[in-house]
Amino acid sequence: MTDIFDFSPTVDEYAVMGNPIGHSKSPLIHAQFARQTKQAINYTAIHVDLGGFEQAVGNFVASGGKGLNITVPFKQEAWALAEARSERAERAGAVNTLIFKDKKIIGDNTDGVGLVRDLLDNKKLELQDRQILLMGAGGAARGVLLPLLNQQPARLTIVNRTAEKAKDLADSFSDMGRVTGCGYDALAGQSFDLIINATAASLQGEMPPLPEGVIASGGACYDMMYGSEPTAFMRWCQAQGAERVYDGLGMLVEQAAESFYLWRGVRPQTNEVIETLRHEIK
Ligand code: ATR
Repeated sequence: MTDIFDFSPTVDEYAVMGNPIGHSKSPLIHAQFARQTKQAINYTAIHVDLGGFEQAVGNFVASGGKGLNITVPFKQEAWALAEARSERAERAGAVNTLIFKDKKIIGDNTDGVGLVRDLLDNKKLELQDRQILLMGAGGAARGVLLPLLNQQPARLTIVNRTAEKAKDLADSFSDMGRVTGCGYDALAGQSFDLIINATAASLQGEMPPLPEGVIASGGACYDMMYGSEPTAFMRWCQAQGAERVYDGLGMLVEQAAESFYLWRGVRPQTNEVIETLRHEIK
């Protein structure tokens, strides 16, 4: 006898794991991608206790889960847990996307490509042969370095409050392109076509000590953070006369789209999702 429930469509399970996770927009984004591309998936947010990451991933896999996004503070643990990693994840030292395939845990990092897609496709900025300044030398900066350098900027300068960290980070990517590291005081007299804020300063409402005149004429400014209001960095850039000042909402949606593509083999449209989210966070 055939059970009628045999005919119910199977829904593949995905989730984002983090701590905290309550404010994650990922379930909303992936639900829109799924509707748009007619993919039968369910995507939830899972709060994971510190120290409980590996166990939580194991439980998710055992219950048939197909893939995970990983956010703060577990991206490095996810990197260590992955049995195979893409080059961009390898170099980032962090994994934000896990794929469970053929009993194997595969790790990728879509943050950098998400940033680059937002800059190129949505903001229509040029990166090749441009002077780019990346602020910060922590995990967020490291995560986007390889995809940025792949765009072959004239030079990518990493600036950090602790200059040594910027220099070390630049050294570890020097085989990938023209990249140098320095402290904020070394920026005096220099100007950049694009300034990207990858510091945690926006979280505290603080503004890193950028000197006046650091934005080249016609230059653009991008904060990897987003919120209902412009960040301190965005306000400073506007006050400096920059016309193109952006937050990181587009990057958030683009990194999600790349994860969705890795899992499902289908590339969702991002513009309408960015629009919806923009309303949502107001
Ligand atoms: P994340 O994973 O978000 O990158 P992180 O690894 O702790 O977090 O790195 C935080 C980055 O923001 C660092 O580059 C930090 O500078 P230091 O290495 O000198 O600490 C930078 N940062 C944090 N607050 C800042 C502030 N108020 N002004 C400038 N840089 C700041």
